[in-house]
Amino acid sequence: MSINSIILSTGSYLPTKILTNADLEKMVDTSDEWITQRSGIKQRHIAADNETTGDMAIAAAQNALKDSGLTPDDIDGVIVATTTPDRTFPSVAVKVQAELGIKTGLAFDVQAVCTGFVYALSVADNFIKLGQAKNILVIGAEKMSSLLDWTDRTTCVLFADGAGAVILQAKENNDVKENKLDGQGIHSTHLYANGKQRDMLQTSGGVSTTGERGVIEMQGREVFKYAVQYMADVVGEVLTHNNITPEDIDWLVPHQANIRIIESTAKKLNMDMDQVVATVDHHGNTSAASIPLALDEAVRSGKIKRGQMLLIEAMGGGLTWGAALVRF
Ligand code: ACO
Repeated sequence: MSINSIILSTGSYLPTKILTNADLEKMVDTSDEWITQRSGIKQRHIAADNETTGDMAIAAAQNALKDSGLTPDDIDGVIVATTTPDRTFPSVAVKVQAELGIKTGLAFDVQAVCTGFVYALSVADNFIKLGQAKNILVIGAEKMSSLLDWTDRTTCVLFADGAGAVILQAKENNDVKENKLDGQGIHSTHLYANGKQRDMLQTSGGVSTTGERGVIEMQGREVFKYAVQYMADVVGEVLTHNNITPEDIDWLVPHQANIRIIESTAKKLNMDMDQVVATVDHHGNTSAASIPLALDEAVRSGKIKRGQMLLIEAMGGGLTWGAALVRF
């Protein structure tokens, strides 16, 4: 008998303040037309000055916990994917653990920028499959607005804030008949990084270099090119590894960086855009938060239903990239 990690519940949180493309037109030399055509973004949520990544992570986790039927005592792990922690240390995860009243178990942060949630999901899945945890809160939370130079039009129009969460639960795989992919849960995860490309997307500073957090610097065109290539490679690998075809996938749940990158991955999979969860138009790029935010929205709206097959994929700074095949 094997153990699988199932997504028991989802939750999310978005800050109240909405920043539209029209608002940005008043701040930098840009236009709604340019932002929409190049990225697909129309508006994004921006956290209040005193609102932290941890606050957003806690709110998203509380939503996921509420819908799970579990109590804080049942949770034995908290993993937060973030690039924008409240403090250099301790982790955001320990803050979530304490504020939710979770008394024991592991808690730590994972940093893989926009691929962070896929990395965190994979790490949690492995703890569960090894029998080292039963119920892990996996959160993606970011205050990307705190890493922006608000006078740099090449980056400030793209990024945004928010948080999303899932609870992964250990489930014995005894309901599976002939095909193991019929079983609920995470079937495979695929993680990659190419550190030689780390300068393509970085912050201008850091704790042990400038002593300051720095702001986002991005070679947009180069990152775009590799994003398209790596996403095509990794979704191809998911299909081959699991011996499935694009027809076996119900929903593509991609990182929400740019609608053109998402469309190109969907095309590679021969999937119509109505099988793609796309929230980039109203969420912007929330880095590690974007996939769990999109997932929660699609689950709550009734788009994604129990039993459906999801292909999750992301690419971000590092460069890092990855994917997961999950039966919801
Ligand atoms: N408004 C108006 N004009 C602009 C703006 C703006 N906000 N920003 C740039 N421009 C101008 C440029 O200056 C340039 O002008 P020039 O031709 O006179 O020099 C022109 O628009 C074209 O710029 P490009 O950078 O070539 O535009 P491109 O079509 O590549 O789109 C974009 C830019 C949207 C950034 C795109 O390259 C992209 O999405 N890249 C990938 C981003 C991404 O996926 N990141 C991954 C994850 S993020 C993470 O991990 C944190």
